[in-house]
Amino acid sequence: MKHIIQSLIFFFLMATLSTFSQTISSPNGALKLQFEILKDGTPAYELNYKNSKVIKTSRLGLLLKDSPSLQSGFVISKIDSLKMDETWDPVWGEVKTIRDTHNELKVTLTQKETDKQIVLAFRLFDEGLGFRYEFPSQKNLSYFIVSDELTQFNLGEDHTAFWIPGDFDSNEHVYSRTPLSQIDGTIGVNVNEITAKRIIGKNYVQSPLMMKSKNGLYINIFEAALVDYPAMHLEIDQKNFILKSCLVPDAVGNKAYMQTPCKTPWRTILVSDKATDILASKMILNLNEPPKIKNTDWIKPMKYVGIWWGMHVGTESWNYADGGNIKLKDFDWSSLKPNGKHGATTENTKRYIDFAAQHGFDGVLIEGWNVGWEDWFGQWKEEVFDFVTPYPDFDVDELSKYAASKNVKLIMHHETSASATNYERRMDDAFAFMKKYNYPAVKTGYVGRIIPRGELHDGQWMVQHYVRVAEKLAENKLMLDAHEPVRPTGLHRTYPNWLACEAARGNEFNAWSIGNPPEHETILPFTRLLGGPMDYTPGIFQIKMNYYDKNKKEQVHTTLAKQLALYLTMYSPLQMAADLPENYEKHLDAFQFIKDVAVDWDDSKYLEAEPGDYLTVARKAKRTNNWFIGSITDENERTTTVQLNFLEKDKTYTATIYADAKDAHWEKNPMAYEIIKKKVTAKDKLEVKLAPGGGCAISIIE
Ligand code: NOJ
Ligand code: CA
Repeated sequence: MKHIIQSLIFFFLMATLSTFSQTISSPNGALKLQFEILKDGTPAYELNYKNSKVIKTSRLGLLLKDSPSLQSGFVISKIDSLKMDETWDPVWGEVKTIRDTHNELKVTLTQKETDKQIVLAFRLFDEGLGFRYEFPSQKNLSYFIVSDELTQFNLGEDHTAFWIPGDFDSNEHVYSRTPLSQIDGTIGVNVNEITAKRIIGKNYVQSPLMMKSKNGLYINIFEAALVDYPAMHLEIDQKNFILKSCLVPDAVGNKAYMQTPCKTPWRTILVSDKATDILASKMILNLNEPPKIKNTDWIKPMKYVGIWWGMHVGTESWNYADGGNIKLKDFDWSSLKPNGKHGATTENTKRYIDFAAQHGFDGVLIEGWNVGWEDWFGQWKEEVFDFVTPYPDFDVDELSKYAASKNVKLIMHHETSASATNYERRMDDAFAFMKKYNYPAVKTGYVGRIIPRGELHDGQWMVQHYVRVAEKLAENKLMLDAHEPVRPTGLHRTYPNWLACEAARGNEFNAWSIGNPPEHETILPFTRLLGGPMDYTPGIFQIKMNYYDKNKKEQVHTTLAKQLALYLTMYSPLQMAADLPENYEKHLDAFQFIKDVAVDWDDSKYLEAEPGDYLTVARKAKRTNNWFIGSITDENERTTTVQLNFLEKDKTYTATIYADAKDAHWEKNPMAYEIIKKKVTAKDKLEVKLAPGGGCAISIIE
């Protein structure tokens, strides 16, 4: 580990200068950051990539409630700089070892009139910039309320953007691709009096915001290490193309409550002329703190099946009965007639455990096992679930023993119906219950309106809630998969038990809505996945929902082969084989890929990518010589050529190619695939044709 303090200069003299500027370069010299103090004492920055100004002069600062703003009137008190070059091994991940090489500039500023100090910390990597505000402990700034953050990203050009509306309460939206000037963030969002404050105007979008400039630069604006602060959305000046940080408010309209010493999350800008550099970047992770968990032996990536898709396609239910005035405690279930569709029965769970054991899956998720689902959704009740009372037809004790006998883990499900207060009160009991019955992991869920009432999914209170849950789970040696949380920002480095989040529009939308268009999965890696793994729940083989009910028009908007490719292109250490066992049993040859594919990797190579169009990635399975390749396209067909030069020289491997059949098409013929086996070496290349909305998965086994 290299860790050299390059210079430590005290700029006492600077205090008398009215303007100031200093430039630092990234380790490879491609990026240059210029920090400035403008005439009125406002801190500002600029970012240059090769010969283009990616970010023009952009102001920094904060508005505080009931006190002078931290915006202008600053002088420099001190400048520190640092060179960092070290490596670290993640507990699990896309690669075995991550290199963190960056140059840091830390500027301590004093506001002359108020004698308040802030520190601006910049870290410049080869592929981007991270910066944050730090507030040292001090007499004149001990606690404060942020009413607005003024951070600007002055793009100055009408880039093409891949965006979802600036909804403070959900990220489960379809992406649009338009120039910045044509964004309308109210489209497709149902605004009524209750949800009105989720959307504040057409020029608001969520971060990460992926963009492409007219001269081919890929630019992404996001944040890293979001703790104890609201999520950063973006407000767009649609004439001048200046983005401004827009923090998610709390119930009374404040943004963040701060007590020094404290800091904001990192604001991040990724830039490259290669789209694959954006995907391969580890900058977000490098900006997060090292693991807080000392012993991580118990943290294990998992592939799982579950009692889940049946509920989404409507053949099974979460609830045991239809309606009834149910109480959480001491309820007489014999007074209710079961609806005959309950998925989480002892018998059905055993069937899933058997299926998992037979096909080598690590876990079985069971949703709808606990009482409360009769009226869980869209209600105003604070206490919907207690997380410890199984339905009468779910024998948790017997199932725990049965799963252990088959060497299969049960995965817990805690739908909170967004009543975070209720969950916080019951977490200790809920996690003790998991320990007692041997569940190593939990999938949480936050469907609906947040309680505490008026709080939002992406506000400071909820951001802290998700972290508290991850921390408490870690204390109990339990792993987490959070659905409907704020989108991740690399915190899985700090809490490696936090395996995955949903926090975007998952595959489930294909079961019961207009679904996810064929380009959706080519955009997510450039947006949502930059912050961390997604529990997208791939692997749907029965593509059309009219199979379950002839009146249904819904369908998955991919071919079957593309569903296989998603195990590679949607990186996650937690992957579900989401379809019903009976659907896999009809296609055991294609199912073999899901059985074989790894969930933890020594290496990953992004071979080609274009946001909204296509993506091909090759990954080397942990502690093996086996490679797996996934390639996907949008609604356009595509031929891709994969050079196998990453294989070890002088070795022969068996490649199994799971491809779209010649006449496959996501809409017209989605389930047509072909499987080809051949011997390959590092000298070979594979040419595959992807159907419209199609994909290809390849296993290369030594
Ligand atoms: C939404 C989640 O994304 C889904 O996976 C889950 O089945 C339902 N909520 C019920 O908790
Ligand atoms: Ca969801």
